[in-house]
Parts: sequence; C-alpha cells; structure tokens
Amino acid sequence: MQRILVTGGAGYIGSHTCLRLLEAGYEVIAVDNFCNSNPESLERVKKLTGKSLTVYEANICDRQSIKKIFEAHDIDAVIHFAGLKAVGESVEKPLEYYYNNVYGTLVLCDVMADAGVKNMVFSSSATVYGLSDDVPFSEDAPTSATNPYGRTKLFIEEILSDLKVADKEWSITLLRYFNPVGAHKSGLIGEDPKGTPNNLMPYISQVAVGRLKQLQVLGDDYPTIDGTGVRDYIHVMDIAEGHVKALEGPRVKEGPAVYNLGTGKGNSVLEVVKAFEKVNGIVIPYKITDRRAGDVASSYADPSKAQKHLNWTAKLTLNDMVRDAWNWQKKNPNGYA
Ligand code: NAD
Ligand code: UFG
Repeated sequence: MQRILVTGGAGYIGSHTCLRLLEAGYEVIAVDNFCNSNPESLERVKKLTGKSLTVYEANICDRQSIKKIFEAHDIDAVIHFAGLKAVGESVEKPLEYYYNNVYGTLVLCDVMADAGVKNMVFSSSATVYGLSDDVPFSEDAPTSATNPYGRTKLFIEEILSDLKVADKEWSITLLRYFNPVGAHKSGLIGEDPKGTPNNLMPYISQVAVGRLKQLQVLGDDYPTIDGTGVRDYIHVMDIAEGHVKALEGPRVKEGPAVYNLGTGKGNSVLEVVKAFEKVNGIVIPYKITDRRAGDVASSYADPSKAQKHLNWTAKLTLNDMVRDAWNWQKKNPNGYA
C-alpha cells in the first residue's frame, strides 16, 4: 500500500482528495494548520469511508514539525495543496502569500529531498494563463500572472521545474485546476469559505440558503454568449480523481509533467445561475454590477493531455455540480461551524 502525505488535507479540495485516496486503497497522512479549514472535514472523511487517516496540525513553513512527520512515516509521495488562495488578499498582503506559499514549498521540498521522497503532485491553477483570452488553454500556452497569488503559483511551478533539472530522480506533476465547485454527493463535506465568498458557486449557495441577499453578477458586457464571464467549472470529485490518476500516471523524464484539470467546456455566470435554479428549484436574486478588476472574459481548458496521458477525464456535469453544491449548503447552512 502506498502512503501519501497530503498538505492542506483538511481544505476544500484536500478533504475530497483524501476521501478518494482512502477509497482507492492508499494510506493517508494529512497535514494542515487549519488557517482556512476545520478539522471536522477530516472527521467526516473518516465517517464516510469507514477508514482512518493520520492528521497532523502543523505549518509547512515549520521545518522541524514537517521533518518529524517524515521521520514517523515511510512516505511514498506528497500531494501539496497547502497554500493561501484569495486573490484580493494577496494584493494586500503579498509577503504573507510569498512566505506561506513559496517559502512553505521550499521547506517542504527540502525536507522531502532529505527524506528521499522525491515524488510530488502540486496544486497549480489556470490563473497561470494570465489575462489571455486565447481559449481553450493547452498546457504549452504562455504563462503570466496578474497578482501575488498567481505569481506564487507561477514561481512554484518554476522552482519545481528547476528542481527536476537538477535532480532527475524527482517526479513532479503540476495540476492546473480550472474552477473546482460542488461537493461530495453525501453533502457531508464541501466548500466552507471564511467570510463572504469571493467565488461564484459558494456565493450562489449562500444566497440560496439565506446568508446573503443577492448575487452580484460582475459585468455583462464581455464578448461571451450572454455578456457574463465564462469559466470551466469542474466538479471537485473529478478534481480529486485527477490526483489519484496523477499518482498512478507515467513518470516523465524531462521537466515536470503539466496537466490541465478542466472539463473543456465553459459556462457563463448566468448559465450557472439558471442551472442552480432549475436543478434545485430555488430562485437566486441577482443584479448586474461593474466588472471585477483582473477578470477575463473566458477561461476554459483543453483537457486532452490529461485524458491521453493520465486516462483522466471529467465525468460530472454542471447539473451535478449545482445539485451537490446545494446539497452540502442546505445540510450545513453554516459550513462546519
Ligand atoms: P483551501 O483553503 O480550502 O485549502 C488549503 C488548505 O491548506 C487549508 O486547509 C489551509 O488551512 C491549509 N494551509 C494553508 N497554508 C498552510 C500552511 N502554511 N501549512 C499547513 N496548512 C496550510 O483551498 P482549496 O480550494 O482546497 O485549494 C487547495 C489548493 O488548490 C491551493 O493551493 C489553491 O491555491 C489551489 N487551487 C484552488 C483553486 C480553487 O478554485 N479552489 C483553483 C486552483 C488552484
Ligand atoms: N462572479 C460573479 N459574482 C461573484 C463572483 C464571481 O459574477 O460574486 C463571476 C466572475 O466575474 C467570473 C465567474 O463568476 O466571471 C467566476 O468567478 P470566480 O471568482 O468563481 O472564479 P475565477 O475564475 O475568477 O477565479 C478562480 C479562483 C482563482 C483562480 C482562478 C483560476 O478564485 O483563485 O479561478 O484557477 F486563480
């Protein structure tokens, strides 16, 4: 049995991935400092799978704590989710983002190398395609960043590429997620943002449950089907499965292996709102407001590389995403609190 260390394991994508790993027969060791999550998520993963996992409360920037975890377990690979992810906050607190995300990754890689664990799957993002509108994005599209959060992803991708050049024993997979949404179908685990959500789906869910009054649709004058922004929404369980496939995928000799995780299909804000209303039988009040700075008109993936090399493809539909997002929200109106 392979033993996988999952950093940021209690978070939104981390908890769903821990669940899939346990179901697929892996032993899971999760490490999280709970700065943006709740230990309850992993308690529920245990309940759902009927399996146990080891959980450490630790900061990836704390070398001694991370070293101890590697000494205590014979780890085969690391899935590295731990990071801060709020774009707006990253503009206000760039040092915090560079320290946590970039320095944290440096410490983690250094400890991994010392322990002889040279296998990492890293959470990158479609944000590395910058302000380009040249959709669909394939993995060889030019990369850039428009904010400190995006730059941490770009810098970490570069650092991991340098590491692979220096030492071919490393196996590094960069997964660029598009827009992960939805929740496990049980409604026991899901996305639980702190404060007012920045992202569309949790915002809609919180309007539906009555925590927020109405959705602001951020711009309706984009060159898209109905003027609202188009994104590649992908079910979080498909994202989780992508990590299992990445662990089992081919080892690449040169450079890191880079894969988009998206459906390849874009939907507008209003299409998402309509799907949520139709599937769940709830009206979502909204008003059109100005564009949000830094938003692109359209972003969606060319997912063919992951299909070809990892035998992975997104299976769940937009209807599944809105149904599961609402199932989670209505069963947990205040998240894990
Ligand atoms: P999340 O905030 O729910 O999960 C991140 C987890 O990492 C949290 O549990 C947090 O407490 C933990 N963490 C943060 N810094 C830490 C540190 N220094 N030490 C230990 N734990 C730490 O976010 P998520 O949506 O699950 O995202 C997971 C990863 O995927 C992040 O790296 C994010 O940037 C990336 N990503 C997310 C999206 C998205 O839309 N959700 C899109 C692209 C990429
Ligand atoms: N939107 C609204 N109202 C809201 C929130 C969003 O209309 O209250 C619109 C946005 O303008 C955009 C679409 O909904 O057109 C999606 O917005 P999100 O904030 O949900 O997602 P983004 O594509 O803007 O950003 C997400 C992550 C970023 C990541 C990026 C690429 O939040 O961190 O995907 O992976 F960089």
